[in-house]
Amino acid sequence: MTTLIKTSPIPLYHQLAQILRSQIRSGVFQPGAKLPPERELMNLYGVSRNTVRQAIDLLAREGLLQRDQGRGTFVSRPKLRLGVMQLTSFTEDMLERNLKPSSKLLRRSIEIPPEQVADALGLAPGEKAILIERLRFADDTPMALNTSYFVLALCPGLAQEDVESQSIYWLLENKYGLRIARAEQTIRATSASHQEAVLLAVPPGAPLLVVEGVAIAEDERRVEYLRSIYRSDRYEFTVNPIRLPL
Ligand code: GLP
Repeated sequence: MTTLIKTSPIPLYHQLAQILRSQIRSGVFQPGAKLPPERELMNLYGVSRNTVRQAIDLLAREGLLQRDQGRGTFVSRPKLRLGVMQLTSFTEDMLERNLKPSSKLLRRSIEIPPEQVADALGLAPGEKAILIERLRFADDTPMALNTSYFVLALCPGLAQEDVESQSIYWLLENKYGLRIARAEQTIRATSASHQEAVLLAVPPGAPLLVVEGVAIAEDERRVEYLRSIYRSDRYEFTVNPIRLPL
């Protein structure tokens, strides 16, 4: 269907949404592409502004379109799926999807972490950790903000290593013999602060996903306290629960 049938019992905005939906699915509009302006769609399909808006609203609710205030309406990019049962590094996630990982180091310091972090890592009183904050990119799009404390005594060199172009999990495994084997993490929703919004290139208040917890090595040593913030328009977490027998 490429034209609207005004006598049809199907509302016009539904018909228009259906046309746009199939154009998105068939690749006429590629992920990231900008939709023609409202006025153009009104002329093209001979419908009112209201009909165009309702159709776009519907597709936005389905997640196929995204509105960017002041810039227009765009075709959503497919989200990156992370399995909650799988522990992967950011670099591994990107390479698996044929995206080029890179990082910008925002902060690195050696400090005594806050009590909650020290407890979670099992640090002795006054024991120091390396705080590393990195903005992570896929190709050139900001995807996530990683803020982590690494136990200084376990991997002191991380205070100097190039952590912008190297994977920290790779360094941990290959330079310090610390293979991250499991984690204890919580996922929750938050909204972007002004600073997070600027870094992640989303509007202030945009929904984000926060993963927080500890990463533990094969020998059960606690290595990293992590807080990773993900753009929720680019990520989703999948869960495959099983129903236990009675
Ligand atoms: C994921 C984890 C972070 C970890 C990072 C390491 O993002 N959630 O806790 O610090 O991977 O990534 P890389 O090895 O690419 O530096």
